[in-house]
Amino acid sequence: MIRARIIATGSYAPEKVLTNFDLEKMVDTSDEWITERTGIKERRIADEKQAASDLAYVAAREALKGSGLKARDIELIIVATVTGDMSLPATACILQDRLEAKRAAAFDVNAACSGFIYGLSVANAFIKSGAYRRVLVVGAEVLTKFTDWEDRTTCVLFGDAAGAAILEAVNEDRGILCTKIHSDGSMWDLLHTPGGGSRYPASKETLRKKQHFIKMKGNETFKIAVRTLEGLVLETLDENKLKPADLALLVPHQANLRIIQATASRIGLPMDKVAVNLDRYGNTSAASIPFALDEAVRCGRVRDGDYILLEAFGGGLTWASALIRW
Ligand SMILES: CC(C)(COP(=O)(O)OP(=O)(O)OC[C@H]1O[C@@H](n2cnc3c(N)ncnc32)[C@H](O)[C@@H]1OP(=O)(O)O)[C@@H](O)C(=O)NCCC(=O)NCCS
Repeated sequence: MIRARIIATGSYAPEKVLTNFDLEKMVDTSDEWITERTGIKERRIADEKQAASDLAYVAAREALKGSGLKARDIELIIVATVTGDMSLPATACILQDRLEAKRAAAFDVNAACSGFIYGLSVANAFIKSGAYRRVLVVGAEVLTKFTDWEDRTTCVLFGDAAGAAILEAVNEDRGILCTKIHSDGSMWDLLHTPGGGSRYPASKETLRKKQHFIKMKGNETFKIAVRTLEGLVLETLDENKLKPADLALLVPHQANLRIIQATASRIGLPMDKVAVNLDRYGNTSAASIPFALDEAVRCGRVRDGDYILLEAFGGGLTWASALIRW
């Protein structure tokens, strides 16, 4: 049976660090509040010249290097992002050009924080169908350029990063075993960036109303995320006749430590089997899962044959999981 296997990963975060103490000087907040409510201590901030494709490029180069492949071996590039370089063209096309991946088709996926798993799921389907053998999936976000630095309810949460994975067709009993993607558009307004699209085209008015910044109803989103993620994880494991104890590692979207802990506790998974790096990077939306996965791989937390589960919840609303036998 043909499966898609992640043969290499890569990641990148900008150098500039913004700590909770720095934020104390910018808005009415405290290190104590941010740490207790979110688990975040610091995040990385892209410089003025860095766009999503610049972060994606470094992560993708690293993944390519690890894979031993050349850019021209890649047949498809999928970039998951809600903070792409421009609304036209796709950031994936800009990345294709920078990588000189001349044979690759390229497009973006917009599923907010679930975007990387959505991308993985599309790549998996293409590979299983036999259409492509080698696919690059990247999650890349520069959320801090869409952050209202006067809004303490959102500006303490986000950071910038990119993570990449190269998938290859294999005829083995390992690789991606299953992906699940879900959406509920009735709650789109819980998390959105209203201005600059065709609903509210960019104008002096949209700028004045700060409509180009991310708006989030955090508390409502939080409650739905906790409820949904438990069901999602158990559904994914059940379908594959696995139990939480079979997992070597859970790689959750890094939105809030309390959401991650609640999910782990509800399914009875100890936190030492959960990848967490939001303390250092904050919520990097579609980049958070490939970034945390790459870190886990580099730290030796992932071994051949391990069962790994990726899960995410985000704007849309969207939620998604991927079960992998490494
Ligand atoms: C955003 C989030 C951290 C806020 O935590 P919370 O416990 O829900 O806090 P609330 O929004 O209920 O706010 C509680 C109080 O803290 C205040 N507050 C909000 N941000 C604050 C900050 N940065 N510093 C200090 N106080 C703050 C609020 O104004 C509110 O004050 P009030 O009670 O006087 O009105 C949390 O809701 C969250 O992580 N949400 C989900 C994010 C998510 O999963 N998104 C989807 C994927 S990206």
